[in-house]
Amino acid sequence: MTRVSSPFGDMDPEAFRREAHRLVDWIADYLATSSRFPVLARVQPGEISAALPADAPDHGEPFEKIFSDFERILLPGITHWNHPGFFAYFAITGSAPGILAEFLAAALNVQAMLWRTSPAATELEEVTLTWLRKLLTLPSSFEGVIYDTASISTLHALAAARERAVPSARELGLAGRDDVARLRVYCSDQTHSSIEKAAILLGLGQQAVRKIPSDGEFRMRVDLLAEAIADDRSKGWLPLAVVATVGTTSSTSVDPVPAIADLCRRASLWLHVDAAYAGVAAMVPGYESILQGAGDADSIVVNPHKWLFTPFDLSVLYCRHMDRLRAAFALTPEYLKTVEAAPVRNLMDTGIQLGRRFRALKLWMVLRHFGAEGLRARLTEHMRLASVFASWVDASEDFERLAPVPFSVVCFRARAAQRDDADRLNERILEAVNGTGEIFISHTRLGGRYALRLAIGNLHTTESHVARAWQLIQEHARLIRSST
Ligand SMILES: Cc1ncc(COP(=O)(O)O)c(C=O)c1O
Repeated sequence: MTRVSSPFGDMDPEAFRREAHRLVDWIADYLATSSRFPVLARVQPGEISAALPADAPDHGEPFEKIFSDFERILLPGITHWNHPGFFAYFAITGSAPGILAEFLAAALNVQAMLWRTSPAATELEEVTLTWLRKLLTLPSSFEGVIYDTASISTLHALAAARERAVPSARELGLAGRDDVARLRVYCSDQTHSSIEKAAILLGLGQQAVRKIPSDGEFRMRVDLLAEAIADDRSKGWLPLAVVATVGTTSSTSVDPVPAIADLCRRASLWLHVDAAYAGVAAMVPGYESILQGAGDADSIVVNPHKWLFTPFDLSVLYCRHMDRLRAAFALTPEYLKTVEAAPVRNLMDTGIQLGRRFRALKLWMVLRHFGAEGLRARLTEHMRLASVFASWVDASEDFERLAPVPFSVVCFRARAAQRDDADRLNERILEAVNGTGEIFISHTRLGGRYALRLAIGNLHTTESHVARAWQLIQEHARLIRSST
């Protein structure tokens, strides 16, 4: 029988209940035993798509069959970010409270564009982001908003900066105008590529991003920043914003934010702090200083989906001038106008997208489930594991560390007699250890040198996994050395 008007689709409520129970059992087993899978998917490009039919089915199929294809066809093509041996990029965790929240969010299917379209979603976002702000010891002058990713948070921050500097950009755009100087955004040579992408999208152009050299520990040189701003002004550019990073993508270095904030204040520039990965560490006693100076910034991005055990995706932008963001984007057609008993916040006003997922639910559940102490304990443990790994690298004659370890990422490499040999040797080590299926590490380049990068951030990861990673890296380095 085909049911045409039921959210259960062609299932009956009992079948849904059965499938949901099976799925929850599967997820619980998966979370407990994800290490049984190779962490890095072992499929060739095109293999998954070739195994799938070219067309959607004409007739509905039972969920059991669909799920069995998920296991048979898709699962082998999954790279397991929830695996204890996942040490690549920034290791992350989709934790149980967040996963349960995602179930609920999907069931409620809330679209929180207006306060009215789900008051709880709008108000929970505000409350949860206030909790997080206080945990990070940021001042109450910051208002928070949730987006999907840090790239989008930063895009909105720079849009607000553009709105402040050139309010007419909203109406007139920037192209073809000779009454507006070319805008400049400053960041270091270590800053994430999302800044350039934002400049592309905001019509500033990639050349608007001036990269300031960093020092020997990969932190922005403030003296060179000041020189660059003066140089640009003398040549007719209009300096717009500086992006400082707390926890750069390659080495997790921390830019000197207080000095940059001071400079921005004096030069009337918008300061955006990209603390997407490391910002959450500010809640750990002893690490409060990483956001020192950020309280004077105009905007800050932190990503709970990176290192706060919240399932992907959830990024938070804190801004001290949310009115600028609203001025940049608020646009209410007749059919979205509402009248409430008191002033309300409509989330659609704080950005480019109209529709909003109920993301706050998962962050709220994560914060409540772990509690501040639980989160601090886990972040502290990840940083301890990273320092243990770094101490093994430091003690080895065959390896060298390439950057300080302020948080939970270690950049290092195997030594070789020649620099080119070292690059090749380490590329081969990366391929070999990732080929084992036990661990997945990534790489970067620091000071022109190829670096292996081990990032700790998954809640399943224990010291034994980190020790196994070190063992595999050493073993494969030995094998490769002896074969050349
Ligand atoms: C410092 C930093 N900023 C921004 C981003 C972009 O993050 P997202 O994937 O949330 O856009 C990253 C990604 O790793 C990052 O390391």
